[in-house]
Amino acid sequence: MKVNGKAMRSIWVEPDGWSVGVIDQTALPHRFATVRLATLEEAAHAIRAMVIRGAPLIGATAAYGICLALRADPSDETLDHAYGTLLATRPTAVNLRWALDEITAAVRNRPRSERTAAAYRRAAEICDEDVAINTAIGRNGLPLIETIASRKKPGERVNVLTHCNAGWLATVDVGTATAPIYLAHDKGVAVHVFADETRPRNQGASLTAWELGQHGVPHTLIADNTGGHLMQHGMVDLVIVGTDRVTANGDVCNKIGTYLKALAARDNGVPFYVALPSPTIDFTVADGLAEIPIEQRSAEEVATMTGRTADGRIETVHIAPAGSAVANYGFDVTPARLISGLITERGVIAASRAALAGAFPERAGAAE
Ligand code: MRU
Repeated sequence: MKVNGKAMRSIWVEPDGWSVGVIDQTALPHRFATVRLATLEEAAHAIRAMVIRGAPLIGATAAYGICLALRADPSDETLDHAYGTLLATRPTAVNLRWALDEITAAVRNRPRSERTAAAYRRAAEICDEDVAINTAIGRNGLPLIETIASRKKPGERVNVLTHCNAGWLATVDVGTATAPIYLAHDKGVAVHVFADETRPRNQGASLTAWELGQHGVPHTLIADNTGGHLMQHGMVDLVIVGTDRVTANGDVCNKIGTYLKALAARDNGVPFYVALPSPTIDFTVADGLAEIPIEQRSAEEVATMTGRTADGRIETVHIAPAGSAVANYGFDVTPARLISGLITERGVIAASRAALAGAFPERAGAAE
């Protein structure tokens, strides 16, 4: 996608041929800055501190984290240490484990002298595969928007609500939930996005609104609790969200608050779709509520707000009484029964065990 008119991805290998560049997502939307990752520890920190975030980008960054570790020392011990360190950074998005397994499989049985180059090759493939998957998700999801557009009166637009940031910043490029939206916009379909702010870290306000703006997609930022009201008043045609892990049964784990949007969508007859790249499917778990580890982050994220002051300074202020207990659950699970469909790289499928196993038999089989 484009930043100030210049095409770029969210992660790249620097001109030195080995260190890794990423966009500092903690600085957006106020400042566009990039960060250079040169060690395993720096890659792990970038994931943990959410310098980069979003399930597919977490996976891609972890893949390069292994590369950086092997470049320093291509031993089995370092490989195991790097795997464990990166896996512990964030618990919920399964793309992290998937990418680590992919890289490990690519290097484990090779002589030490070949490991680093093999790891960099597989990491680059993971990035390219992510872009291809998201492009296919866009193609497969586009008819959902076009069908609604064909029923609109002249001058009316298709209103899509999304939660958190499942845009290109959450992936290597294109995004998942945003892929059909960008394609529709590029094809001249009048599409407008309601972006949930997504407290506590405000990925919707800081990232989704920013990247939609960079691409020229009309959008409106809303407080998290607004979606239900909009749906009751016929102002949302379609919900498309991303996901951090989908179980074999089709339960969807995504950013906290997604479940409430699904409930509101069901109550108001609004289609609720999840954009799902196959590395986000976890065929080893069935019941999302019981089996997916839900990340809990610091109280600070809920009890404070960070933003730009009128004179351009970035400041963090407290919004709660000192001493109040705070809970900060990062994700929730939307049961498969509330989901209209999963937009995958292999087509739009039902959120069910049969449909997932039918579309991705090689992944389902490998997990048995
Ligand atoms: O905590 P984050 O910002 O990493 O959470 C991201 C989300 O929940 C996204 O909606 C999800 O990863 C899908 S990204 C394509």
